[in-house]
Amino acid sequence: MISRSDSAHQDPAPILTMEKVSLRYGRGADVFSDVDLTLKPRSFSFLTGQSGAGKSSLLKLIHLSLRPTRGLISLFSKPVSGLGIRGTQTLKRRIGVMSQDFQLIPHLTVFENTALALRVSGARVEGYRKNTTDLLEWVGLGGKLNHYPLTLSGGEQQRVAIARAVITQPDLLIADEPTGNVDVQMGLRLLQLLRRMNRMGTTILIATHDETLIRKAPADHYHLEDGQLSVRVAL
Ligand SMILES: Nc1ncnc2c1ncn2[C@@H]1O[C@H](COP(=O)(O)OP(=O)(O)OP(=O)(O)O)[C@@H](O)[C@H]1O
Ligand SMILES: [Mg+2]
Repeated sequence: MISRSDSAHQDPAPILTMEKVSLRYGRGADVFSDVDLTLKPRSFSFLTGQSGAGKSSLLKLIHLSLRPTRGLISLFSKPVSGLGIRGTQTLKRRIGVMSQDFQLIPHLTVFENTALALRVSGARVEGYRKNTTDLLEWVGLGGKLNHYPLTLSGGEQQRVAIARAVITQPDLLIADEPTGNVDVQMGLRLLQLLRRMNRMGTTILIATHDETLIRKAPADHYHLEDGQLSVRVAL
């Protein structure tokens, strides 16, 4: 895996700040309004809310796949509103994303999908073969390195999507329903992987419906309901 820079480790500034952020699609109503959210370095947070509450939309704002209708978003202390294509790409490289629909590339194998960001960054396969293989073995896909996404089950595709999101050891990891298609045991194994990454310095935000996950991991908990984001206090 690529080692992160020391400066990112020591950065006391928030990883993310959202100030009075609102989002609407087209001429529709606001999906959410005046959302304030700060993610501190090395924090581990859950985002919950009913289907349609706006969780995926909020995550898309954070990983720069969408821009807000109103409000300010800063990532790694940089306001995202003024970013050009190059600035956006530079920030995106620091963020690992596991989207709800996986977005695996059908003509690349499990191994190639997982290691794609490393290959694109110019790394040589000899340098990342072992880490990638070890990671895929950890998520139970050691026997499927050369399989293609469309020949995998939903849960297997989900595990490839997680492996791909974590392989670069990003500063910020955004995972949308990372355990939606796997059984309880694999869900806990994936949680273990995410917590290990968190201990190594990655800030993590997970959208989930998975109560087991939430109960097993002490974490900050945000909840979206009726277009408002609130902080949930553990019972
Ligand atoms: N591209 C889009 N164009 C128009 N409306 C959209 C778009 N994407 C999402 N929406 C709407 O925004 C609202 C929030 O959707 P979003 O996918 O963020 O919810 P969610 O909380 O992630 O739901 P789920 O738990 O089902 O994944 C929904 O009403 C949805 O219909
Ligand atoms: Mg969603």
